[in-house]
Amino acid sequence: MRDFLKRPKASDAYKKAILESALDCVITIDHDGRILEFNPVAERTFGYTAEQISGKKLEETIIPPSLREQHRRGLKNYMATGKGPILNKRIEMIAMRKDGAEFPVELTVVRIPGEDPPKFCGYVRDLTDRRRAEDALRRSRHAYAALVESIDGIVWELDAQTFKFTFVSKQAERMLGYPLENWLEKPGFWAEHIHPDDREWAVSFCVRATAEKKDHQFEYRMLRADGTVVWLHDIVTVVIEDGRPAKLRGVMVDITERKQAEEDLRKAHEELDRKRKEEARRLRGLAARLESAREDERNRVAREIHDELGQSLTGLKFEVSSLLKKISPGQQESLKKLAAMQKLIDATIQSVRRISAELRPRILDDLGLLEAIKWQAKEFQKHTGIPCAMDLPGGEITWNQEKSTAMFRIFQETLTNIARHAGAAGVEVRVQKQDKQVVLEVRDNGRGIAEERLSGSGSFGLLGMEERARLFGGKLSIKGVVGKGTTVTVQMPY
Ligand SMILES: Nc1ncnc2c1ncn2[C@@H]1O[C@H](COP(=O)(O)OP(=O)(O)OP(=O)(O)O)[C@@H](O)[C@H]1O
Ligand SMILES: [Mg+2]
Repeated sequence: MRDFLKRPKASDAYKKAILESALDCVITIDHDGRILEFNPVAERTFGYTAEQISGKKLEETIIPPSLREQHRRGLKNYMATGKGPILNKRIEMIAMRKDGAEFPVELTVVRIPGEDPPKFCGYVRDLTDRRRAEDALRRSRHAYAALVESIDGIVWELDAQTFKFTFVSKQAERMLGYPLENWLEKPGFWAEHIHPDDREWAVSFCVRATAEKKDHQFEYRMLRADGTVVWLHDIVTVVIEDGRPAKLRGVMVDITERKQAEEDLRKAHEELDRKRKEEARRLRGLAARLESAREDERNRVAREIHDELGQSLTGLKFEVSSLLKKISPGQQESLKKLAAMQKLIDATIQSVRRISAELRPRILDDLGLLEAIKWQAKEFQKHTGIPCAMDLPGGEITWNQEKSTAMFRIFQETLTNIARHAGAAGVEVRVQKQDKQVVLEVRDNGRGIAEERLSGSGSFGLLGMEERARLFGGKLSIKGVVGKGTTVTVQMPY
């Protein structure tokens, strides 16, 4: 055999060139399984040099121990019967390198024509790299699929032209309950299973964004197979190919819980709001009742003081007068005392009138609101010395007692505030009768109410004014300009 290798025949130069340039291992053996030729790729693949291996048997070298028996039988069988089931076809099997490492190969064995006893030529390709690549691919596909499945949302892809799904991850089944085939096979599946209230806008939003080649996200409801509603947050990427949208890829995340929480929160807020309003309404009702009770009380006290006390004093004054007439001029001392008594009684009558008027100006009941305002403004001017200009409409305002009283009390509080806080040199009072309302405006030229006084609680004057106005469907507004003065405006529906 060595001779065969060492002294090639004339045509062997040609053969050698082919062997050496071949991309696969080329190995020739004789009928006994002894290696005759071993090309450079084979040397590199198996780790033997041609020198080392030629003349050795396949089964002692590159066939792994587990396959040796099979090889021996095959060869023997062929020699006996001429049948070689492995000849002339591609088969995959395991080979062994010099260091004993086994590896996958692809192999084709042919019988060399015209040789007797037969010789065989094997073409062997090392599959290690290919297998590794296949493995890596399989692994990465696996990892990719595992990743997609592990996402807590539906990963999907659809054809941007037909809107038909080309991929939907398994989560779809779990989240919505429809088999994956429905998603993939039924055109229009997505749109048809959107909640009817969201369908139109959600579909047209997605279609429009796709046409504009814009990635987009939106939240909408879909219907599960069992009829319940699921809220989805859909995050969509538009894949552009050849300048036009080719595919949509996205993830649908289940946000039902979040939406539910939002809804609960909204309801809780509403409930709280409702309770607060109810509470405010009750308090207002209470305030109104207290106010009217107070007003009644004042009314009663004012009337009693005026009537009872007034009558008694008038009677007393009459008695003193008649006594004065009866006393002889000689009784100087008594005359003086009686005259002083008479004066005192007059002053007390005045006081009683004033006190009862302050408690409840009869003028309000007797002559009406405008006259009462006029009277109160004059009183104010008299007591404070601050001139009070008036612009009142003709006629009267015919309101019931409660409403006139409310307006009058607001006016009183406004004047009291001016006297106490404004440091004003003048006041203008104006009442306008408009179509549907009466507007009372009180303007002073004092220091101007500070902004924080308006919002700040703690004092009840302004609050009471506002409350009174509101009770009759009216509105109070206060504007202050620092250093220029304050204007209080009350609008009361007619
Ligand atoms: N015409 C005004 N000019 C300047 N400041 C004013 C005027 N009216 C009210 N204020 C300011 O607004 C605050 C609130 O007025 P409000 O009538 O509510 O309370 P108050 O007069 O201080 O106390 P009360 O509860 O006895 O009325 C006053 O303390 C005062 O500082
Ligand atoms: Mg006040």
